[in-house]
Amino acid sequence: RLGLKADFIGRHIHYEESVESTQKIAQRLVLEEAPEGTIVIAEEQLAGKGRMGRKWHSPKYSGIWMSVILRPNLPPAKAPQLTLITAVAIVQAIEELTNVTPQIKWPNDILLNGKKLTGILTEMQADADRIISVIIGIGINVNQQREDYPEELESIATSLSIELGKKLERAELIKEVLYKLEKLYLLYLDKGFYPIKLLWESYAISIGKNITARMLTGSITGKAKGITEDGVLIIEDDLGELHHVYSADIELEK
Ligand code: BTN
Repeated sequence: RLGLKADFIGRHIHYEESVESTQKIAQRLVLEEAPEGTIVIAEEQLAGKGRMGRKWHSPKYSGIWMSVILRPNLPPAKAPQLTLITAVAIVQAIEELTNVTPQIKWPNDILLNGKKLTGILTEMQADADRIISVIIGIGINVNQQREDYPEELESIATSLSIELGKKLERAELIKEVLYKLEKLYLLYLDKGFYPIKLLWESYAISIGKNITARMLTGSITGKAKGITEDGVLIIEDDLGELHHVYSADIELEK
């Protein structure tokens, strides 16, 4: 129905008008043995999930709320790489359709003009040494207008239409994201993470900058040096000591 350019990602599309969360539907489909590349798309989410237990605002007909099921034969420690692959795919898709290049804020926020355009939430089922499935949740703010945002989001979130001053065809963007995602995923399975890491770093906003990483356990301030092969952020503190950060919120110093 979308006239897809990708081959297997999106071959099975599960479309819903209104759901609590596309992640939930995808979890059910995983249990029903849905094949790799199955996607769930909804027009609206009543309980969209964000990272770290936050909510994801998902109003009707204005954004892309979608979950992609992948089943890579990899150890669980590699799952964060799939989030980084997805971030690169979304940036490339937006670049392709609009000629603007958003930036990536580690690990998975995509910003345009400093405000959040996209969030990615990756959830995994695995046994001790293999991934069984990964559900990549993608939320892209496309056609929201400024007045659509609740006050607390206005200063931190944006949409493509706000930044570009025109509406975009969501189906076109979905098509392009799935196409880029499939290409990068196949590149990754074939050549490993290194080529993706280079692409990711070329779009990353925080590399080389002074940042503060806030974790549940405390915070680290220093210079962001890059990411490891596993997608872990490396921060160098004032004493020259290197820290590995697995999960955090990042604040850029002005
Ligand atoms: C973040 O906190 O930045 C991640 C947001 C992820 C939102 C997407 S929208 C589609 C999928 N379904 C959800 O409930 N969440 C993800």
